[in-house]
This record gives sequence, C-alpha cells and structure tokens, in this order.
Amino acid sequence: IHPTAVRRPNYITVQSENTIYTDDHITAKYLNRGADVVVSDGQFTVLPTVKPYEFQTTRKVGKTGLMMIGLGGNNGSTLCATIIANRHQIAWHTKEGIQQPNYIGSVLRASTVRIGTEPSTGKEVHVPVSDVLPMVHPNDLVLGGWDISGLPMDKAMERAKVLDYDLQRQVKPHMALLGRPLPSIYYPDFIAANQEARADNVVPGTDKQAHLEHVRADIRRFKAENQLDRVVIFWTANTERYSEIIPGVNDTADNVLAAIKTSHSEVSPSTLFAVAAILEGEPFVNGAPQNTFVPGVIALAEREKSFIGGDDLKSGQTKLKSVLAEFLVNAGIKPLSIASYNHLGNNDGHNLSAEPQFKSKEISKSSVVDDMVDANRLLYKPPVVGATGKAAKGEHPDHIVVIKYVPAVGDSKRAIDEYYSEIFCGGRQTINIFNECEDSLLATPLILDLTILTELLTRVKYRGEGQDDFAPLHSVLSLLSYMCKAPLVKPGTDVVNSLGRQRNALESFLKACIGLEGNSDLLLETRIW
Ligand code: NAI
Repeated sequence: IHPTAVRRPNYITVQSENTIYTDDHITAKYLNRGADVVVSDGQFTVLPTVKPYEFQTTRKVGKTGLMMIGLGGNNGSTLCATIIANRHQIAWHTKEGIQQPNYIGSVLRASTVRIGTEPSTGKEVHVPVSDVLPMVHPNDLVLGGWDISGLPMDKAMERAKVLDYDLQRQVKPHMALLGRPLPSIYYPDFIAANQEARADNVVPGTDKQAHLEHVRADIRRFKAENQLDRVVIFWTANTERYSEIIPGVNDTADNVLAAIKTSHSEVSPSTLFAVAAILEGEPFVNGAPQNTFVPGVIALAEREKSFIGGDDLKSGQTKLKSVLAEFLVNAGIKPLSIASYNHLGNNDGHNLSAEPQFKSKEISKSSVVDDMVDANRLLYKPPVVGATGKAAKGEHPDHIVVIKYVPAVGDSKRAIDEYYSEIFCGGRQTINIFNECEDSLLATPLILDLTILTELLTRVKYRGEGQDDFAPLHSVLSLLSYMCKAPLVKPGTDVVNSLGRQRNALESFLKACIGLEGNSDLLLETRIW
C-alpha cells in the first residue's frame, strides 16, 4: 500500500494540562495571540492581545457520504475510479511499469506537519496532516450524486479519457456498480449551449420549488439508504454564468427562498443545490467559480447554522500564482504585469469557450494577487480618496487571463504565465512558467481534501471566555481556502490568497485543536548558545 493510502490508528497524544482526552472528545485550551494597532499622525501604537479559547473535537468519525453534482464529469468519474483503485488495491500496468494507486496531491494524505523536536537528537518530527485529528479515510467515502448526463459511471470514466487503459479496464466492473448518476436540475441558460447534447438525465418541469424538494429528497434518501452520519454535497459540475444580484431576489435568506418559490429566472442550479444542502443541514462546497453563494445563500447558511465553502478548485496555475506573486512582492520586487494563458481540450474547456462561463472563471482567477498588493504600499500606490469620499482602486499590476479550447490536448491542460517585474533602479525581470498536466488528476485530490476537511470541521466546536456552551464554527468554512481559487470568507472579513498563509492557518488550526502552538519558525534554540 502506498504510504499516502495507509490507514493508521490515531496515535498522537498530547500530554499537557491544556489537552483533555475523553472517549468522545479531544478538548484543548488555546491562547489566541494578536495585537491591536492604533494609527494616529503616522504613529503606530501596538497593544499585544491574548484571548483564551477552547476547542472541542468529536473523536468518532461518522460514516460519511460524498454526493457530487457533476458526478459523470471528468472530476467526478476520476474521483470514483481512483477511490475504487485505492479501496481494492488495484495496481495497473503503464509503459513505465506497475503503478500503485495512491493519494499523491492530497495535502491531508500526502503532506506532513512538524509537531516538535525529538529531545535526544534535536531533530524535527513530522507526521502526516491526516494524523493530527481523526479524519475520514478517503477509501471509506460513500459515493453518489447527480449529472444531467445519464451515462453510466463506467462509460463516463471512458468518456473522460483521463485514466490509463489498464486501470480503466480493472475498475470498470466496480464503476458499473455505481450505475447512473441521479437525474439533475438543468436550466440551459446557466451553462454553455454546447452542453445541451449531454442533458439527457434531467428532472422534468420548470417549478424550482418542486426541484428544491426533489433534491432535498435525494439527499435524505441517500443518507438513509447508506446509513450516513454526514453527507458532503459538492458542486463539480460545469461552470455556470454569474447570477445577477437583484435586490429583493437573492439578497437575503427569505428573498432567495421566495425567489425559488416563484421560480425566478436568476436562481441557478448550483444555488438550488446549495439551498437544498443548507436546509438539510449538510455542508455544501462549490468547486466551480460561479457565484452560487449569492448574499441570500450565505445569510441562509448563517441562519440555519449550516456549513458552506468554496469557490473554485485551486489546482494549477492559480496555486502557483498565489505562491509566485507573494514571493515577488515579499522579496520587495514589483510585478508590473501577470499574463496568464491556458488551453485545454476537455469538456470543462468546451464549456468555458462560451463567454459568460469564461467570465466566471476569469473573475475567479483574477483577484488572487489583491491581498499581496494591498499588503505592500511601498511598491504600489495606495488608493486615493476622491472628492466624493470614495476611494479609487490603488495601484495594481496589469493582470489578464486567457482560456482557449483545443480539443486535441484533452484533459492535459497547458498553462503559460509571464511575470514581468520592476527590479532595482529601473531594471526589469521576466519569469515565464510553463505548466502541463492532467487537469483532473490535480483536481481530484482537492475534492477529497475539501470533503474530508469539511467533515472534520463539522465536528469541531469552540468556546470563548465567558461562553458556557461549545458552539460550531462560523458557517463559512474559510479554512478551506488553501484548495480554493476564490476563497469564500465570513462576510466582512478579508480574503487571504497567499498559499503559504492559507496552509499555515490550516496547520495552526489543526494543532490548536490538540493544544499545540501554531507554526513557529523562530527555532530559537538554533539561534542562541
Ligand atoms: P466536466 O465538464 O468533465 O464535468 C462536469 C459535469 O457536470 C458534466 O458531466 C456535466 O454533464 C455535468 N453537469 C453540468 N450541469 C449540471 C447540473 N446542473 N447538474 C448536474 N450535473 C451537471 O468538467 P470537470 O473537468 O469535471 O470540471 C468540473 C468543474 O470543476 C468545472 O466547473 C471546472 O471549471 C471546475 N474546476 C476543475 C478543475 C480541474 O482541474 N479539473 C480546476 C478548477 C475547477
């Protein structure tokens, strides 16, 4: 078994008065250290702050389902086939030799965290991220979902043309057992017209309230039939166009519910699925870029204390951009322009060749350097407040994104990025990146990470000072940001795009839940005598 797929007992025990283990829970005390900064006449007065919290994590990992919308697509079928390969330990022949199934590319299963040092040697000790807290093993996920294409799952895998033939051949009987995806909700206006030929598996009618109830019943049935404790609902269907935000229609929780009742044209299928999940009390994650989470949906999730997360899987180009742009700006170098070009030949690329769907992707890919630029006003001029009192946008690098559909390359996406920067005393630097890989093999482990992390976060509660009862986390699971191109965050808070900061947040949070301090690179003992 590949190390990333090994099933290990939870073997980390923190011995400290701050961490208490019972049969049901791990409860840990945590001091949240920060600083209040008062700015006055160009002077900064900094007041360090400390706020005590406790985290309580339910130890029992419930039986967990994953219902994907877009089950029969490249991501959906690839995810099912690769889980089956891992579950049944199916190895396959490639021209390189025998290939073992694994979970490479999953930050939870294939990366590690530093939990401390070994006293006798002073060497750092690293453990897999998935060992820090009890998490569901991907092999145990119960798989299901919907697709507007009714092709059975074994055929859907063949259509995707992602996996090696010898793997397809072996998993085919298992895939056939998954049958056809459930019929789905299809409003042709939201995805590209070129998708119409796939839509042979749709819930009939145009009554959106009836559609909502249909989807809710599907979720309940799936839960009951498989005796699940939790089911994560995951949008990995085609990218939709943006929904228009219309006051009175999708701006508040009640308005969204009313708009569904009256079958308003701006309620998208993805919004309908999100509302169904929220009302069923099951978490919903959006793996595509459209604005599924219109303000009314976020408000509904908050009201129902349901969990939501997204948007858009951060697999290749954007992930690298959130590292490179931060590296440049933090190195004191000034990117002047970032020009990104992609071409791909899978069905996602076909759908994105239509302008409104491309627009959703463009928006999602565009804001990724904003916070790094905002954090460095030495390099970029700050926003200027005009006569009207409104601040114009501050200086920002030019940033363009191009996506082209080239059927011949199939799922093997090519991305070219040029970073053009100002360096010392008027110099210029150009960095070019060429990135090529199977898109779905980058995206699939992210779907797993998002699902597993989401399930975990539904089991973590917190209590602040003076709070009697433990409360669930905020509805918007911004800890999922690492895997998302355009992270959804709690309303009124800032988005963090930097990949390093996102990972640090995740690592620090997991450690806090077992009573360990966050990630300090001070390494004081290596600096002093
Ligand atoms: P795909 O086109 O192969 O699969 C999408 C599936 O969704 C298709 O089978 C289609 O029939 C189905 N579908 C469309 N509308 C539906 C609806 N209303 N209900 C149910 N099913 C519906 O696309 P792929 O490559 O699997 O990507 C899925 C999504 O993930 C896309 O939106 C894509 O932009 C996004 N994504 C993919 C990444 C990747 O690396 N593969 C990275 C980032 C995002």
